[in-house]
Amino acid sequence: MGRIADEIIQEVRDRVDIVELIGRHLTLKKSGRNYVGLCPFHSEKTPSFNVNADRQSFYCFGCQKGGNAFTFLTEVENLTFPEAVRTLARECGIEVPESREGGPSHTEALYRANEIAQACYRKALLVPGNPALAYLQARGFGAEAIEKFKLGYAPDSWDAVANALRAEGISPEIGALAGLLAERKSGGHYDRLRDRVTFPICDVRGRMIGFGGRAISQDQEPKYLNTPESPIFRKRAAFYGYPEALAPIRSAERAVVVEGYFDRIALDLAGVSNAVATCGTALTPDHIRDLRRRTGEIVLLFDADEAGQRALEKALELLLPEGLRVRSVALPPGDDPDSFSAREGEGALRALVDSASPAIETVIARVAAGGHDTAWKTADAVAEVVPLLALIPGVVERNEYATQLALAVGTQPRYVEAAVDSQRRGEDPRDAVSVRPRKSGPEDRIAAQLVRSLIEYPALVERVSTDELLTLLPAGPAAEI
Ligand code: UTP
Ligand code: MN
Repeated sequence: MGRIADEIIQEVRDRVDIVELIGRHLTLKKSGRNYVGLCPFHSEKTPSFNVNADRQSFYCFGCQKGGNAFTFLTEVENLTFPEAVRTLARECGIEVPESREGGPSHTEALYRANEIAQACYRKALLVPGNPALAYLQARGFGAEAIEKFKLGYAPDSWDAVANALRAEGISPEIGALAGLLAERKSGGHYDRLRDRVTFPICDVRGRMIGFGGRAISQDQEPKYLNTPESPIFRKRAAFYGYPEALAPIRSAERAVVVEGYFDRIALDLAGVSNAVATCGTALTPDHIRDLRRRTGEIVLLFDADEAGQRALEKALELLLPEGLRVRSVALPPGDDPDSFSAREGEGALRALVDSASPAIETVIARVAAGGHDTAWKTADAVAEVVPLLALIPGVVERNEYATQLALAVGTQPRYVEAAVDSQRRGEDPRDAVSVRPRKSGPEDRIAAQLVRSLIEYPALVERVSTDELLTLLPAGPAAEI
């Protein structure tokens, strides 16, 4: 999203009534020229949250939070500033040019096409005897989940959506651009999602950008069919269930990230409302950048099998460099959050998520389980975790984990720290933890120069600590000196 012109921000500010806006989130009582209520940003029993209609501002005497309508929305809904401006602009009918989304005229029509398809899918789910309703019930998703997540049914028809769009004056080309329709080679269009449970996917501002579709019968391929990428649906950045999760993410100060639509729903039903799901992709840097603006902590649920472990470590490679704190929870092999909840109950799923511990500790426990009865095993275990540790920007966290790793595999923290440091300098960490034949490189010349200097000026020895020497010298052999 591009920058919003100052005049537009000003116009939105002038149009919005902050008393009405804040009044949607808490009960305000008139008190003199102001309005007061219980602060939504900290817990209190006597109201110290003030709204000033003249100045269109708010201020809490309890927690000192204050600002205007935009800042209120960024805080309470966990939106970024431009998102808050756009959300309010939309409410008062002010058009904000969408710089990178392909021009306003097109995009509005695409959202509209999705809304029409959604109405069509919702109507089809209400038809008695339709297979989606029975399927959802059988999986344990009843009226509550269906209503809350606005699940639908794409009927077993080639033209249900195509007809609904036409009836509303939306061209098939727009339907195709939205991904709702597919094009026949011979010309003409047909419904892309047929005989599937549908999941509406919205952006943070609640606009419908695409759909996921779950096959109902076993022999239907593929199991999931999503509407494709479009000018408004970028899967690399989209999360299923995001708008509803924004405020819970803010208050929990963490986000749970899963991979399945049903997993997102199962978590919500278990009381974990700060969860989002990727839409048929793995976590991407775009996803992470978005999350990082809203929270500092991510919880990942993964299968305790080897593939799950690999997936966790891959996710860590993306999340750790951003300074995000990552917790993880292992599910029993073969489970995902939905199947776990269906079998063990919602309370068990919730407890499991609450028990999430720092993900690096999980990785350390896994490598430590391999044993360390030989120096080789210790070196291998260290070498496996060091690349991840080296990605952590904070020096304290990095070295705390280095110590944990060292203790877990029976070596000394300073060796692990040396390995992490050399990894961070772009060297092979194995050279720091294990003696291996190696070609001489620039660091050998530095080491040779250092040794020569020490011979020439022995007084230097006093001025360089052993630890510094250990990190300067070609690491493996030096560690034995
Ligand atoms: P899974 O195959 O793990 O399925 O895909 P699931 O979510 O457990 O589905 P159920 O419980 O069998 O219904 C996880 C996610 O990967 C995407 C979907 O987003 C799905 O929710 N996916 C999967 C696809 O996009 N296409 C596929 O064919 C399969
Ligand atoms: Mn599943």
